[in-house]
Amino acid sequence: MGHNGDTIAEPREQWGSRLGFLLAAAGSAIGLGNIWRYPYVVYDNGGGAFLIPYFIAIATAAVPLLILEYALGHKYRHAAPFAFRRVRRKAEWLGWFQIGISLVIMTYYIVIIGWVLSYFYYSFGTRWGDDPNTFFFGSFLGTTDSFWSVGGIQWKVLLSVAIAWTLTYLILRRGVRRGIELAAKILIPTLVLMILAIVIRGLTLPGAGAGLDVLLSPDFRALLDAQVWVAAYGQVFFSFSIGFAVMIVYASYLPRRSDLSNSAVIVGMGNSGFEFLAALGVFSVLGFLATQQGTGVTEVVESGVGLAFVAFPQIINEMPGLNSLFGVLFFGALLFAGLTSAVSIMECAIAGVREKFRLSRRAAINLTCGITAALSIAYVTRGGLYYLDVVDRFVNNFGLIFAGLAEVILIAWIARQIGPLQTHINRDSYLRVGWWWKISLMVVTPVLLSVMAAINVYQEIVNRYEDYPLSGLLVMGWGVVLATFVLALVLQRIRRRDELPQATGD
Ligand code: ALA
Repeated sequence: MGHNGDTIAEPREQWGSRLGFLLAAAGSAIGLGNIWRYPYVVYDNGGGAFLIPYFIAIATAAVPLLILEYALGHKYRHAAPFAFRRVRRKAEWLGWFQIGISLVIMTYYIVIIGWVLSYFYYSFGTRWGDDPNTFFFGSFLGTTDSFWSVGGIQWKVLLSVAIAWTLTYLILRRGVRRGIELAAKILIPTLVLMILAIVIRGLTLPGAGAGLDVLLSPDFRALLDAQVWVAAYGQVFFSFSIGFAVMIVYASYLPRRSDLSNSAVIVGMGNSGFEFLAALGVFSVLGFLATQQGTGVTEVVESGVGLAFVAFPQIINEMPGLNSLFGVLFFGALLFAGLTSAVSIMECAIAGVREKFRLSRRAAINLTCGITAALSIAYVTRGGLYYLDVVDRFVNNFGLIFAGLAEVILIAWIARQIGPLQTHINRDSYLRVGWWWKISLMVVTPVLLSVMAAINVYQEIVNRYEDYPLSGLLVMGWGVVLATFVLALVLQRIRRRDELPQATGD
């Protein structure tokens, strides 16, 4: 059996079909990031101007890295920690770091899915009332007025989050093929139909054009703003699930002879196409809202979170015709998109823990879901929104970017594996990877990510994020990223229970 991470009782699982793998991988990529995050990131970064850095980030980082992660998982047939360990013995920590960052993301991702579930229910009869802003921050979240006023548990949010965890858990318990793959086969096509319905409705509302103008008019001056570039790279990492350890484990469930690069391009294009479609829908309804309120499109939304949970309820209130149905479609789409990503995030950890500690699938699920669920309660408190905001910012701006940077430096420069991986990919792939892929991974991505990491650190130190207390940023921001890193190093030091001598060297 060697050191391929299987237990005798439970052989390594496999996808039922290539389509199943593509849908599961698209299900991971298409998530809250596409419908909830992308439109507000575009909005915060000057609308149309954002699109140029975004497409450049896709071509130079997202697609090349996705191909790389598929190749790593497929060649070594392990979850991230042991895949990196096979590349370089001392690199196992990078897999744990990626899993750690994924799990930190999961602690708040699942909470947003919980909010979505509540709003799905509130959509029937627009139960948020006439003032969605007060409803969301006041009666729903009960947000306290300062960072460290934790304020106790918000019980109705806890109930929805518990339901979100249960759904995720049940899918995972059914396994890779009967759980994750089946869920993706049902949810992803339904999701595409839902988003198409949303876009068609959005485009036919009065004022839609004003919203699309904001999305589609490029302002080339924004290209000189480093922050816009940072946001673009951060968004594509989050959206493609890159640096999450997810795509590595998903590719490890492929049969030995599989097309990798073409699959990555299909998943990447599907994800970006979906994201752009969602943005068309969101901006057209924002145009509608601005027209109804007689203001500019850039004035209708105050904050990122508010886009889905304040602006959308407002839009739904104002909408003529079957407005509850629109709410059900929108929050239903967020729910389906979120769930398929949530299971992928947990799967990367479950597989890593199983391989390292020789646990059964069930034990690994109980352990990882149990710990992550306990941590997610932090955001169900009345101060939770502050913690969510800070953790989200730091894991994206530092955690994911650092995970991606370390990955390319390790593979391209330390272990010099680009050539062997290229051969591995080209053996069975329809699209052959060549100079573009190599240059992107060896030069463009490491240089850009290093510059961005430096800019991020500088900006973060010079301008304190949202005027939160320094102690809050140190604990929930820097502290969380650092703790994840230390934990990764500790996990690397722990020896696998039945570690074979030959498994330790390369
Ligand atoms: N890739 C997932 C998303 O976009 C995490 O939400």
